[in-house]
Amino acid sequence: MSRRPIIAGNWKMNLTVAEGLALASGVRDRCNRFRGIDVVVGPAAMALHPIIKRLDGSAIGVAAQNCHWADKGAYTGELSPVQLAEVGCTHVIIGHSERRTLFGETDENVGKKARALHDHGLIPIICIGETLAEREAGATIDVVRRQLDAAIAPLEGDELARSVVAYEPVWAIGTGKTATPEQAQEVHAAIRGRLAEAAGKDVAEQVRIQYGGSVKPTNIRALMAQPDIDGALVGGASLDSDSFARIVSFKEDAD
Ligand code: 13P
Repeated sequence: MSRRPIIAGNWKMNLTVAEGLALASGVRDRCNRFRGIDVVVGPAAMALHPIIKRLDGSAIGVAAQNCHWADKGAYTGELSPVQLAEVGCTHVIIGHSERRTLFGETDENVGKKARALHDHGLIPIICIGETLAEREAGATIDVVRRQLDAAIAPLEGDELARSVVAYEPVWAIGTGKTATPEQAQEVHAAIRGRLAEAAGKDVAEQVRIQYGGSVKPTNIRALMAQPDIDGALVGGASLDSDSFARIVSFKEDAD
């Protein structure tokens, strides 16, 4: 089946609100005309609301970079899915490796977040991926399966079908070292196989699996040519509207 591609920019802890608004305008001007593809930007938390207003009337989605699983409560510094839905977020990135390694995000918490996001009509972008040491130890598939199983355990089949999985090998993030299209495809196929075991082939065929890790205008086309790569989660190259638009327009560039 053909899945609609989804390209998302993870801006991480970059850009002021003013800079983020300028980038969002650039993304809208350059990317809103592309049909047949979902485009999402992921600004810092304080920029979400103004950027959502700036993108009003466009087809561009807006992702938060993290959330808590509770609706509200004494969780200083956190944002709830209720709050993110209220301001108009469409997606939330959860389980990013930077949150796992630097901020103690656990597999179990990623599952709670995925559950809570679907309860409030938000789409989780579930990040999974192995470290270099895990890859070198031959543990890649075991690691991504463990992370995936915990994230999807609380979801119903239809919720899983609407979710996005992002395979981001930790060794490829911000390093300029992209997984080769074949390396990425091998893991993406294993992820889809696991989704089929968990929820059936029909559901697995609907889940969009993004690749993330040093995606650039120069490597997106080869990645997207792989059968199980349905999009990209882009860090550094999403901070410039021209390079992000060149990634989003990978099909046009091919013509
Ligand atoms: P880079 O594209 O900068 O490698 O970052 C990838 C990433 O972590 C996206 O979530």
